[in-house]
Amino acid sequence: MRSARSAMSTLMAHSPMRASARLLEGAKPLMQPRHLRPTGIIDQLTGKEVRSTLDELGLELPNVDLTEDFSDDDIETILQASDDAGGILVFSNQKPDMSIHDHVRFGQRIADYCETVIEPHAVAAGHPDAPEILEIIREPTADVVFGENWHSDNSFMAQSASFSILRGTEVPRLGVNDTLFSSCEAAYDALSPTMQNLLLDLNAFHSANKAYGKGHPGNSRAAMEKTETMKLAQRELPILEADVLQPIVIVHPRTGRPGLFCSPTFTSHIDGMAPAESKAILEFCYQWIARPEFCTRVSWLPNQVTMWDNRSLSHKGVADDCSERRVVQRVSIRGEQPKNHHGVATSDRTSAPAAAGLFT
Ligand code: SIN
Repeated sequence: MRSARSAMSTLMAHSPMRASARLLEGAKPLMQPRHLRPTGIIDQLTGKEVRSTLDELGLELPNVDLTEDFSDDDIETILQASDDAGGILVFSNQKPDMSIHDHVRFGQRIADYCETVIEPHAVAAGHPDAPEILEIIREPTADVVFGENWHSDNSFMAQSASFSILRGTEVPRLGVNDTLFSSCEAAYDALSPTMQNLLLDLNAFHSANKAYGKGHPGNSRAAMEKTETMKLAQRELPILEADVLQPIVIVHPRTGRPGLFCSPTFTSHIDGMAPAESKAILEFCYQWIARPEFCTRVSWLPNQVTMWDNRSLSHKGVADDCSERRVVQRVSIRGEQPKNHHGVATSDRTSAPAAAGLFT
């Protein structure tokens, strides 16, 4: 992966969109406040120490006011910066009075540019003031929390999410409850050619039911039922009835980079394999994606918005110190059907939710 700093200089030197270059002023690699964090942070979900060492991933853009009107060139500049930073942009210094509607408007602007739509959450109820917004609330007493295992947003949908845009509206003290990101592209690149070849033509089912259906202890539905701060949408939820087939390795539609695309949150099993074979390969992929050398973490400050690319990254909220209230709001943008290295999408193929025995 290119470093954020070298990506920046390339952008400044070669971008034809000089007028939009103002958006990149002051851009800097993500500052990792390692010295401010307690060492040996244990994630309560996995019981493992949380570590991240990939400092090149991500870019902070301190001079982008997300409430302004953006031209197409502006949006393309932002998306190029995201591509060059491996898919993570942190927009710091937002106006304290930035509203939920400003957040939706920025998401809509990205969606319009990409000729797509905002994707309201498939199963969770939207925010009462803005149904496009998924609000993730963690009360200080909650011991089970929504979104705290690795995943790529909406991978259980035929057209999974391209970008997600997360705004922290009530953030705990710096360095706890960060969002952890793994570059699934760096993870893929680091595999041996033999392993890459093994994975390239495999497909796996992704299941909304696994994460949000009844009868899966510890999933996000269980978290919602325990906390009562988040609710299932009060409508028919057909997505719970159909798992979707996705390539295990997808090719990013903008950069052409291949990356791993599976997660313990949504992936149920590999198509055409015995459960034990599927489980072994998926477990390997999950452990591999979570290795510190492919990960970085975004710490939350007030007035900060983080945008990430679900086609190149996996992410999780870190359940370390759960003693403070945390409220974040997310807009996700509908992407294309994920495609494999042949340019083929598999997500037209669906199946009934997989039996619990097949879940890894
Ligand atoms: C998410 O999974 O979209 C939210 C991550 C977080 O809460 O940090």
